[in-house]
Amino acid sequence: MGEKLVITIDGPSGAGKSTVSRALAGRLSYIYLDTGALYRAVAYAVVKERISPGDKGCLLNLLRRTKIFLRNTDGRVKIFVNDEDVTEKIKTEEIGLLASKVSAIPFVRETLLSIQREVAKGGSIVAEGRDMGTVVFPDADYKFFLDASVEERVRRRYNELEAKGTRREYHEVERDLLIRDRQDRERKTAPLRVPQDAFIIDSTDMTVSEVVEKMVTIVHTT
Ligand code: DC
Repeated sequence: MGEKLVITIDGPSGAGKSTVSRALAGRLSYIYLDTGALYRAVAYAVVKERISPGDKGCLLNLLRRTKIFLRNTDGRVKIFVNDEDVTEKIKTEEIGLLASKVSAIPFVRETLLSIQREVAKGGSIVAEGRDMGTVVFPDADYKFFLDASVEERVRRRYNELEAKGTRREYHEVERDLLIRDRQDRERKTAPLRVPQDAFIIDSTDMTVSEVVEKMVTIVHTT
């Protein structure tokens, strides 16, 4: 496969996008772009600077003076807020919920759009998020929409948190996931939608490698 394809993977929280996207990118020797990390980086800056996310003026000012960028170090993409490596610090549930909230603000999305397109300009990329195939890369070569039942997504998130040593009640994990689903699907700007020409994969009863194999087959044969 000599072409430098742009492959997008959209889907709701907990559908397995990150694991699958990273594995697919590894399989094809492509760059993996986790766009959720950019929104999480904005949320991190908001918390760090103690800004109210509802105060649009302060948020705009914050975005203007904050440098958010990705750096490829030894094949791993790290995310920086100014000069701070926040790659690990942004992986909390609280930052995820706040990221979902700030991601509904149009000027936040506009600011992050150019960063995403810049990373993808050479192709050979698997880009994961909520608006990849619909808004950021409408001309992508292959678009996937990865979904799973709510029960399965809550179960995965619960196990993930437990593995990290974060104790959460099951119903709290379910509540947060449903809030995030609603925020991501109902926002006016670039809501989570199935792109028109996407391959839909329901991963409820599939393993990560089964999903990746299915995607590789589609890329090689269609
Ligand atoms: O995929 P994630 O959990 O890291 O994403 C965090 C939030 O960022 C998600 O709830 C919505 C927002 N997001 C977005 O609006 N558009 C994207 N392309 C990626 C993430």
